[in-house]
Amino acid sequence: MAGLIPQNFIDDLIGRSDIVEVINARVPLKRKGKEFTACCPFHNEKTPSFTVSENKQFFYCFGCHAKGNVIGFLMDYEHLSYIDAIESLAADAHVDVPREGNITDNKNREDKQPLYDILKQASELFQKQLKTSDRAIEYLKKRGLSGEIAKTFKIGYAPDGWDFLISQLGKSTENLSALTKTGLIVNKENNKTYDRFRDRIIFPITDQRGRIIGFGGRILDQGEPKYLNSPENSVFHKGYELYGLYEAKMALRKIDRIMIVEGYMDVVALAQSGINYAVASLGTATTTDQIQKTFRTTHEIIFCYDGDNAGKKAAWRALENTLTVIRDGMIAKFLFLPEKEDPDTMVRKEGKDAFEQRIKNATTLSGFLFDNLKTKSDITTQEGKAQLASKANVLIQKMHNSLFKDLLIEELSTLIGLSQQHLEAKISSQEKKKRPLMQPAKPVRGQQVSNNKTRLAVALLIQNPILATHHKVPEHFREAFNKGLPLLFTLQKTIESNPDISSAALLERFRDGEHEKALNTLSMLQTPETENEDNIINVYKEIVIRLNSEERSDFFKSKLSNNEQLTAEEWNEYLDRPNNNSNDDTSQ
Ligand code: UTP
Ligand code: MN
Repeated sequence: MAGLIPQNFIDDLIGRSDIVEVINARVPLKRKGKEFTACCPFHNEKTPSFTVSENKQFFYCFGCHAKGNVIGFLMDYEHLSYIDAIESLAADAHVDVPREGNITDNKNREDKQPLYDILKQASELFQKQLKTSDRAIEYLKKRGLSGEIAKTFKIGYAPDGWDFLISQLGKSTENLSALTKTGLIVNKENNKTYDRFRDRIIFPITDQRGRIIGFGGRILDQGEPKYLNSPENSVFHKGYELYGLYEAKMALRKIDRIMIVEGYMDVVALAQSGINYAVASLGTATTTDQIQKTFRTTHEIIFCYDGDNAGKKAAWRALENTLTVIRDGMIAKFLFLPEKEDPDTMVRKEGKDAFEQRIKNATTLSGFLFDNLKTKSDITTQEGKAQLASKANVLIQKMHNSLFKDLLIEELSTLIGLSQQHLEAKISSQEKKKRPLMQPAKPVRGQQVSNNKTRLAVALLIQNPILATHHKVPEHFREAFNKGLPLLFTLQKTIESNPDISSAALLERFRDGEHEKALNTLSMLQTPETENEDNIINVYKEIVIRLNSEERSDFFKSKLSNNEQLTAEEWNEYLDRPNNNSNDDTSQ
C-alpha cells in the first residue's frame, strides 16, 4: 500500500520542473519581458492576462485571479487531485514517486485500504444479488431503469435478513472490523451484529478515483426511512462527495457543465435519458466543498431544485455558498422545476431535449439573487431599498474580488438608485469595519489582523526564501498578537530546516492550510519593495525590526492594562523603549 510522499521529494520535484515548460506544453505562451503570457485557460478572454513568472515559478491571471505554482496549475487545468498532479509531474520528469512517510501517516493510510476492499466486495455481492431477485428487478423496471444503466451505476440489491454480509464476508476478524468501520454492519449490545442494509436497492457512492466509499439504500415499498445511507467514516465524507461525479467524468471527456440535483434516482434517470452530467449532493444542502469540487471539473454549475419552498431554501443556501467560491469565468445557474416534479419524473415526462431547454433557460445567479431579495423588501420605499441593499451587501462582501462582483454591485446600485461610487464606498467602509486596521486599545493575542507591513514581510520572505538566512525573525513571533507574525515565524523555521527550498516549494507546504490563500496572493505581490532587488535584504530587515517594535508595544500594553507583573528583564526592555508609554507607530 502506498504511503505518504516525502516532502523533500515534492520540494525537489518542484525545484526541478519548470512551470513555463509545463504550462507551455498545454497553453502556448508568449514571452513578454521577464514573464510569459497567454489567454487565460481558466476564464474566457480575448486579450491575455494570464502571466507566468519564470523567476518565481508561479502563474497568475490578472483577469480571474487564478494563481499558484506548477502543482496548482496541473490540479486546476487537468482536474487532478494533489497526489495525481505530483504523479503527473514526476512522470514528465521520468522519476518514480517514492512512498515512505512517517509511521503514523503510513498507518492511517493502510488502515483505509481494508475499508475500500470490503466496500468493493460488498458492492459486487449486492450487484450479484440484484440479478437473482425478481422483486428488486421488478422494482427497477417499474421505475423505468434499463439493465445497462443499472450496470453503469453498479446498482445492486441487499437481500432481506440480518446477516447476509456477515455470513458472506465476516469470516475474519479483519473483515468484521472493516464491515463495522464502514457501517455495513451495526453492532448491538451483547455483541450481536446485523446488516445495515436489508431489502433495499443499493446505490454505490464512488470517490473521484472510482473507489466505492459508501452506499445509499432505497426501500422498495413504502416505509421509513426511504433512503438509508452509509454513516460518515474515514473514507466517506458526505459533505465532500458528489454522487455520480465519477460516472460523469467517465462518460464525458470534456465536461462543459454539471447539474447538481438532489437524489440518486435523479442522477441515474437523467443519465439514462442522455443527460450524463448530473450529480447529487447526497441528501444534504450543497456544501462549499462540493461546489468547489465541481468547479474544479467544469466552469458551469446548474443547481436544480423542486419549485416548492424547500427547494427554494436549498437553492438559496447553494447561492450563498457559491458566492464565496465563484471567480470570473465560472457560471452558476438555478433551475426550478414545477411543483411535485423532480428531475427523474420531469425527464421521463418530457425527454432530454425539453429538459435541456429548461437548463438553457435557467435563472442566472444574479437574477435569482435580486429576484429573491426583492420579494423580501418593498423597494418602492426608501426603507425597503436600504434593507435590500444591506442584505445584498452582506452577500456581496463574501465574494472574491472579481469582475462579477463589480457587476453585482453595479446591478445593485441601479436597483436602489444609488450611484455606484456611493455604494462601493459604503461597502468598502463596512469591510473596513469588519477588519479594523488600527491597533485595538487592548490587543488580544492572535486576533489582530495583519497590517500592510506584515503582509510585505511575508511577501518578501516567500518570494525570497534566502532572506531567512540573512535576518532571523525573533522567537516570540511564534505567539505574537499580530496574526501574521506566527506565519512569518513558521516560514522562517521551514526555510531554516530546508535552506535551498524554492519559493514554489515553500508555497506547496501550505496547500490546504489556513494560510494557503494569503500566501498565494502574497507570492505574486508586486510593490516597489519587492521589486527592488538590490536592496531587498535591508528592506526586509528594517520591516522585521519595525514589526518587532510594534509587537513589543502591544505586548507591554496588554500586560500593563491587565495589571500583569513584568519580569525584571521586561522592565529593562520597557524602560529602554523610545516611546514606552505611547504607541504612535500606527502607520500602515
Ligand atoms: P427525495 O425524497 O427527493 O427522493 O430525496 P428521490 O431522490 O426523489 O427518490 P425517489 O425518486 O423517491 O426514489 C432526495 C435525496 O435525499 C436523500 C437521498 O440522497 C435522496 O436521493 N434522502 C431522502 C435520504 O438520505 N434519506 C431519506 O429518507 C430521503
Ligand atoms: Mn424522485
